[in-house]
Amino acid sequence: MTWRRPDIRAILAPGAVVLGPMAGVTEAPFRGICKRMGAALTYTEMISAKGLHYNPDTVVARSLLTFDPAETPCAVQIFGSEPTIMAEQSARIVAEHGRDVALIDINMGCPVTKVVSKGEGSALMRTPALAGEIVEAVVDACGDVPVTVKIRSGWDEIERNAVAFAREMEAAGASAIAVHGRTRGQFYRGHADWEIIAEVKAAVGVPVIGSGDVFSADDALAMLERTGADAVMVARGAQGNPWIFREARALIDGGKRLAPPTAAERVGMAREHAAALVAFAGEHAVSRMRKHVAWYVTGLPGASRVRDAVNHVRTHAELDALLVGYAAHLSSLADA
Ligand SMILES: Cc1cc2nc3c(=O)[nH]c(=O)nc-3n(C[C@H](O)[C@H](O)[C@H](O)COP(=O)(O)O)c2cc1C
Repeated sequence: MTWRRPDIRAILAPGAVVLGPMAGVTEAPFRGICKRMGAALTYTEMISAKGLHYNPDTVVARSLLTFDPAETPCAVQIFGSEPTIMAEQSARIVAEHGRDVALIDINMGCPVTKVVSKGEGSALMRTPALAGEIVEAVVDACGDVPVTVKIRSGWDEIERNAVAFAREMEAAGASAIAVHGRTRGQFYRGHADWEIIAEVKAAVGVPVIGSGDVFSADDALAMLERTGADAVMVARGAQGNPWIFREARALIDGGKRLAPPTAAERVGMAREHAAALVAFAGEHAVSRMRKHVAWYVTGLPGASRVRDAVNHVRTHAELDALLVGYAAHLSSLADA
């Protein structure tokens, strides 16, 4: 039997809540957790097409393109500015990872100077003809794998061109468009403008994914209702809080507000995440767990002491002992 890739509208069914790409945060183990918690789709962090072209077989490149069995098919996000290299690398990703790849997403939103100074990321919103060429080339290279783009509201307050730009990307062959409602000039400051997400949705026929400032299930529902977007993307709101996907599903599907996770569940998830990360990337990855632990314990009693202590752990055993001790401390507070 031949396997047919699902249509983009099946991947992004109305009301889908997806985990957005976050460099240095959304590694495979965390993506797997979010998928199990109800994320409709997960994205790799942005991967340099040029990096893959010149250094295809480094540990980092391999790890960026390794998936958690729970999450596949996963969206793979690439960035770059050279249509030929982007097409060649997308074709290779699709050929090598087949059905693990839900879609190839092209980053047109990264605000970082090192990236935009090379005409990549959000700088592509200033060169729509080149951005269109990239989409066409990647679409041609990817066969039946959908190609999507992730954009911002524009470069700055003067160049807020998301609507016209989204139309051009659709014409070039993009199967869906994710819109982060901030300009490049805003980086992550201020509020995301959901109005521009609504405007893009009204202007294109392909599914639109709204991104920006979704920190709770209520925010996810409000984003869908206020923008008319087909799907919602959660990024920072999932940091230390993968339950947001389960909570958003319950609210969107059944109008139910789930109780937030208990302190014990939060610490338990931090332990599970750490074990998965070490199994995935090795003992040295323990240092990459520090920020996640800090996020998991945010708002819990004694969190600042845990945040300090976690910066000194060097092994997985030390980290786990810290978390077990903290869980015991929390439970003694609950019993008191
Ligand atoms: C630490 C961090 C890393 C990010 N990395 C990426 C990335 O690799 N690719 C991308 O398209 N967006 C990236 N983003 C942007 C998010 O996907 C998202 O669009 C943005 O944070 C707004 O959504 P939020 O308010 O839910 O966080 C990143 C955001 C953060 C905070």
